[in-house]
Amino acid sequence: MKPVRKAIVPAAGMGTRFLPATKAIPKEMLPIVNKPSIQLIVEEAAASGIEDVILVTGRGKTDIVDHFDAHPSLEDSLRRAGKEALLQEVVRPSKLVRISCVRQQRPLGLGHAILCAQHLIGDEPFAVFLPDDLVDAPRPCARQLMDVWERTGKSVVALMEVPREDVANYGIAAGPRAADDDRIVTIETLIEKPRIDEAPSTLAVVGRYVLDPAIFQHLRHTNPGRGDEIQLTDALARMLGHEGLLGWLFEGERFDAGDVAGYLLANLNWARKQPRLWRTVQAWVAARS
Ligand code: G1P
Repeated sequence: MKPVRKAIVPAAGMGTRFLPATKAIPKEMLPIVNKPSIQLIVEEAAASGIEDVILVTGRGKTDIVDHFDAHPSLEDSLRRAGKEALLQEVVRPSKLVRISCVRQQRPLGLGHAILCAQHLIGDEPFAVFLPDDLVDAPRPCARQLMDVWERTGKSVVALMEVPREDVANYGIAAGPRAADDDRIVTIETLIEKPRIDEAPSTLAVVGRYVLDPAIFQHLRHTNPGRGDEIQLTDALARMLGHEGLLGWLFEGERFDAGDVAGYLLANLNWARKQPRLWRTVQAWVAARS
């Protein structure tokens, strides 16, 4: 079975939920503490064993590509000033993985964004990371999916339980649990953003996928769906009856960094990992409660 070495990160979305912050900068560059959120995504990819990341970008997104490039003049000045720790932080993003970039020229949907990167993936399995979904996990979420791929040879998507009133925000999957591992769901039904009364379960797709390259065939035969966009979920639903599709109830906590409340919680979660910073936050909260 071929190993998963490459990942696609679609980053062409407009970020309207964050206006005016995203008027002139890409939403993926908004920081979680002191790192752009997309750096956390690429760090998860690297920690999972991904070697190549293909960013699917669009107009106004070049800051993202610059962030993962070397910056020789800044590096030289930090080196001359003896700021070794800062220098390491500046160099780090350019050393994580090999980055390539393709443009999605029109906002035709997530499925279309994946198709834009097909020529760089070729005939290999690959991971997809949706950069709005940040996952803090003891074992990186993508690594968990890659392990399922290596065990089963089947495409697999990350799943989590959501409240029934939230099903219309997600792809919703349903199917039986595997006899030998109750974190694995053999998906039999998959619907993009169903109404509450249409939802087959409360198991939501989170933005991590490991996919067989056969998905490209299905994407090419997928008509525009919800929002008049070519939906990855619809192509995955086609794949169910052919190559099969698994779900994996991942271990870890997911934050929706595409939503203002989720973004604030993500900042608190990652601030908690820095003891001095976290003491300052706790003291501020304690003084007001
Ligand atoms: C996308 C997918 C959806 C998935 C969600 C997870 O939707 O289309 O199936 O559940 O990501 O975050 P979006 O939130 O980009 O509209």
